[in-house]
Amino acid sequence: MAGTGKFVVGGNWKCNGNTASITQLVKDLNKGEIDADVDVIVAPPMLYLPKVQSPIDRQFKLSAQNCWVSEGGAFTGEVSAEMLADANVPWVILGHSERRALCGESDEFVGKKVAYAIKNGLSVMACIGETLQERESGATQDVCRRQLQAIVNELSAGDWEKVVIAYEPVWAIGTGKVATPEQAQETHAGIRAFMASAVSQDVASKVRIQYGGSVNAGNCEELAKQEDIDGFLVGGASLIGDAFITICNSAKYNTY
Ligand code: PGA
Repeated sequence: MAGTGKFVVGGNWKCNGNTASITQLVKDLNKGEIDADVDVIVAPPMLYLPKVQSPIDRQFKLSAQNCWVSEGGAFTGEVSAEMLADANVPWVILGHSERRALCGESDEFVGKKVAYAIKNGLSVMACIGETLQERESGATQDVCRRQLQAIVNELSAGDWEKVVIAYEPVWAIGTGKVATPEQAQETHAGIRAFMASAVSQDVASKVRIQYGGSVNAGNCEELAKQEDIDGFLVGGASLIGDAFITICNSAKYNTY
């Protein structure tokens, strides 16, 4: 079963940049020509969201890289989903492996965050993916299913319209070691099959599944051709304007 949703590319700038480099990146993105049918989202560091919001071309939607699990209040250092909605930031990345590993976010916590963000009108790129050790021990599908089940537990079937699943094998993130198109396709197909059994056939065919992990201007075409790859979540290469535009335009190689 192939995914039927529109191709969607996210740029995760992580904790990179400063006023000068971000101003330049926005200029470079605005100059780029997107000539494919694709949704494009960029996720600058929280502090720079308002700086990017006004100059960036409207074809780029904005995303935060995180938000709090519930209503705001005495949560030092956090930003709530309500605040993002209030600031007209329509998307948020949740459950990134860096937050799972470095900030101790559990599957259940991520599930609750996704539900709360959706309740407040945000759309979510929800990240899942296995470590190298888990892949080598044959646990890839089990890990993805476990992480997804925790999200499934918190959402209604209708909520899935607001979710893009980002499959990002941890061993491929920032390492230059990209999953082969076959590896990515196999895992994406497994994720879609899981969604069919855990939610519904309809949600499984419509939900968009991004691949993330060392995607660049050179490898995006082969990955985009895979039937269950419906987009990318890009880290390092999203900081280079023309590379990111090339990745967005690889949507044209996805014929599903
Ligand atoms: P990378 O990061 O493209 O630098 O591997 C991807 C991500 O973490 O979203």
